[in-house]
Amino acid sequence: MARAFGFHSVDEERDLDLPVEGSVPEWLSGSLIRNGPGSFETADGSVDHWFDGFAMLRRFSFDGGDVRYRNRFLRTDAYEAARRGEFAGGFGTGGGGLLSRLKSFVFDDPYDNTNVIAERVGDEYVAMTESTRWVRFDPESLATLGHVTYDGDDPSGDLACAHLHRDPWTGAVLTFETAFGRTSEYHVHELTTPNERRHLASIPTAEPAYIHSFAATRNYVVLVEFPFVVNPLEFFRPGDGTFVERYRWEPDRGTTFHVVDRRTGQVVAAPTAGPFFAFHHVNAYEPADEADGPDVVLDVETVPDAASVDALYLDALADGFDADGGAIDRFRLSTDAGGAVDRERLYDGGTGLPTVSPAVRLREHRYVYAQRFDDPDENWATALVKVDVESGRVREFSRPGWFPSEPIFVPSPDARRDADDPDAPLDAPEDEGVVLSAVLDRDAGRSLLVVLDAATMGELARAPLPHALPFDFHGRYFPAV
Ligand code: CO
Repeated sequence: MARAFGFHSVDEERDLDLPVEGSVPEWLSGSLIRNGPGSFETADGSVDHWFDGFAMLRRFSFDGGDVRYRNRFLRTDAYEAARRGEFAGGFGTGGGGLLSRLKSFVFDDPYDNTNVIAERVGDEYVAMTESTRWVRFDPESLATLGHVTYDGDDPSGDLACAHLHRDPWTGAVLTFETAFGRTSEYHVHELTTPNERRHLASIPTAEPAYIHSFAATRNYVVLVEFPFVVNPLEFFRPGDGTFVERYRWEPDRGTTFHVVDRRTGQVVAAPTAGPFFAFHHVNAYEPADEADGPDVVLDVETVPDAASVDALYLDALADGFDADGGAIDRFRLSTDAGGAVDRERLYDGGTGLPTVSPAVRLREHRYVYAQRFDDPDENWATALVKVDVESGRVREFSRPGWFPSEPIFVPSPDARRDADDPDAPLDAPEDEGVVLSAVLDRDAGRSLLVVLDAATMGELARAPLPHALPFDFHGRYFPAV
């Protein structure tokens, strides 16, 4: 099978200073650690779905204007099994009538191909996917250190969420898990370390949805339940089909917003809207008091349905990514039972992997950064965009033949929050800082790290890598690494 560029495999692991063209701000100190598939190969073939490529960390470290690069595969059980020709299957690989393969994603021995994101929880650095088994790594060497699986008494789920929220007021981390059963439940937790959690709420559901991320504000967690659902009994029924192929698109259900009050653990409202699907929430907040105004505002990157899941099989990708980019939609809702959901389109230029400044997470934001997917002749994102959601102004960065990854905004020292005084105003505009992106340069046959001035989206510096990285998912910037 001919695979499109960007869905290729690498096998070398490198650790070197990168040449820098242009100028990286001296204040930029820390590391961007990105995660994503590094290889799709097994000893006896390859995986089938992009989401099943084997986790490889990529670190870009900044110090005094210099850039150092390191990449390393996580030595997970899934990675080692693949090398032995024993990969048991994951998100969209496996199945084929073998019940044990399907179950391996969520049940008996949870899948550990943690290729979605790198995060810090407490003092631990962890790589995560949607199984409940996290993989610890050393942020300096990127060495794999072992697994973390919650083993306390609070309710646990079978499927985890790889997108955490960090509460800037308490430092706690918010997440949820889905427990499959005769009555399934979403369990919402607050974590201080990977193994210390406080159970906030449980929301019963007959047929759980596939929910890749969620919204949080100072006082609320909102789980948006899309009509892409599974009957959990399907997981135990023999027959063809991988984990994700057991889900069904049922638009007549609409989309339910489960609003949990973090102070009481109560579901205070569950308004519904029309059907849509999303992988990624942009941000959410509680607006300053306005008479009759909404209690919670959520920006979500929506698509009309779940067709993009099928478009990400490697066979399908050989002919290009055939799915719509996302739209940035704003949902306003009331926390009163019986309230309605108001939906407004903020940007429909075709986006992917939207982000905001870490200084405005869980608070009102003005700028959204995202990949843009709108070139029908290319099989991937060809630009980065910055959307000013107040004025509607859009700025863009692109170069011919360049395919940028998720943009990560790093605030300048004045545009950060002081952890000891999280309610103090910023000393600089929200967009004072840089945007970092790992770009695949098709013509040069290699990747680059680009540093953009976030205010203008103009290029400040580029640092070419010695090889071409396959497309990845998510990164986080760690100032202390
Ligand atoms: Co994601």
